[in-house]
Amino acid sequence: MHAAAFTELTGPDGVSVIERPDPKPGPGEAVVDVDACAINRHDLWILEGDSAMVDADDLPFVSGLDVAGVVRAVGDDVAVDIRLGDRVVLCPNETCGHCQFCRDGPENLCEQFSLYHGGLAESARVAADRLIVLPDSVETTTAAALPTAYMTAYHMLRRAEVGPGDLVFVPGVTGGVGVASIQLADMMGAQTVGTSASAAKLDQVEKIGLDHPIEETDPDAIREAVQEIGTIDSVINHLGGPYTAVGLDVMRRGGRMVICGRTAGSMSEIDIPNLFLGHKRVEGSTMGTQHELEKLVDLVASGDLSPETDATYPLEETGAAFTAMSERESVGKLVVTAE
Ligand SMILES: NC(=O)c1ccc[n+]([C@@H]2O[C@H](COP(=O)([O-])OP(=O)(O)OC[C@H]3O[C@@H](n4cnc5c(N)ncnc54)[C@H](OP(=O)(O)O)[C@@H]3O)[C@@H](O)[C@H]2O)c1
Ligand SMILES: [Zn+2]
Repeated sequence: MHAAAFTELTGPDGVSVIERPDPKPGPGEAVVDVDACAINRHDLWILEGDSAMVDADDLPFVSGLDVAGVVRAVGDDVAVDIRLGDRVVLCPNETCGHCQFCRDGPENLCEQFSLYHGGLAESARVAADRLIVLPDSVETTTAAALPTAYMTAYHMLRRAEVGPGDLVFVPGVTGGVGVASIQLADMMGAQTVGTSASAAKLDQVEKIGLDHPIEETDPDAIREAVQEIGTIDSVINHLGGPYTAVGLDVMRRGGRMVICGRTAGSMSEIDIPNLFLGHKRVEGSTMGTQHELEKLVDLVASGDLSPETDATYPLEETGAAFTAMSERESVGKLVVTAE
């Protein structure tokens, strides 16, 4: 089979299509013929050599978390009802199943939490119990948009206790997690404020639910613009860096900021008295639960959620998908397809 592998950790030009043996399922596993695999900034960090997870010794490395396709083979000892020909989406969570957090939940707190990689290929060997069977009305290319971006955003919004009438601030609103946060916050009855460097991209996100666009990148100017709009109940922060201090400043007393990323920097300086005198909460969050992903699939099936995909790329043009992400050209998800 073909795989779009990272052969050098030099950015998008480090992706090459290579030949790999066809996978066979081991015990508890299934092999999925991949129709579609969405990419995430997590993959781009790896490709740029900016992830502790993968180094030169691991090359060639096949990344890709968000697998959707058709089950081609099922191994022995599979306890779940997964059959040949099922159309499925993968929850990329990997958990030990027996630690305190696996037992108590939520599962994404697992002490040995890790992520599946391998979807940027024609076939993927996966844990069968991480597959969700898709209703007929949900296309595999649509489902591939959901796992990392939408599941993470959904979990963050729930952690932030977002509810009807809330004002939610999403710095960096045009990417995978950003757009997902807007669509899901909208469904929860909240109003949203979001930023981008691009007026054209903000126009697109406004059409899918963003209430208050701010075309700005300077943190001080963003702080001022948000304060003019209103007092923020919750911040969904995937940028980190200086946007964390801004988020804290614009939040109301008792407000919640949930952080999942560091696109704009791994370090943030915050005003501690502002945090404790205002009874504000700042929480870290990674991915979500398989049950949350199942709910998202149901929302797509019922027509309540329509994940936003900017473009699809054939497997051999995977490098171009990463170029679009790196150059901040896209709105929503970028999806690599088998065709
Ligand atoms: N912990 C987790 O479980 C988890 C899960 C998913 C994602 N994440 C993290 O969340 C972040 C977003 O992931 P994603 O896949 O949604 O990425 P993405 O689609 O590439 O996000 C693009 C967004 O980031 C903004 N952006 C890009 N570079 C920026 C910079 N240097 N300064 C300010 N804004 C910048 C873009 O703004 P413009 O509109 O101005 O171009 C756009 O709004 C990443 O850090 C990722 O690692 C974490
Ligand atoms: Zn565990």
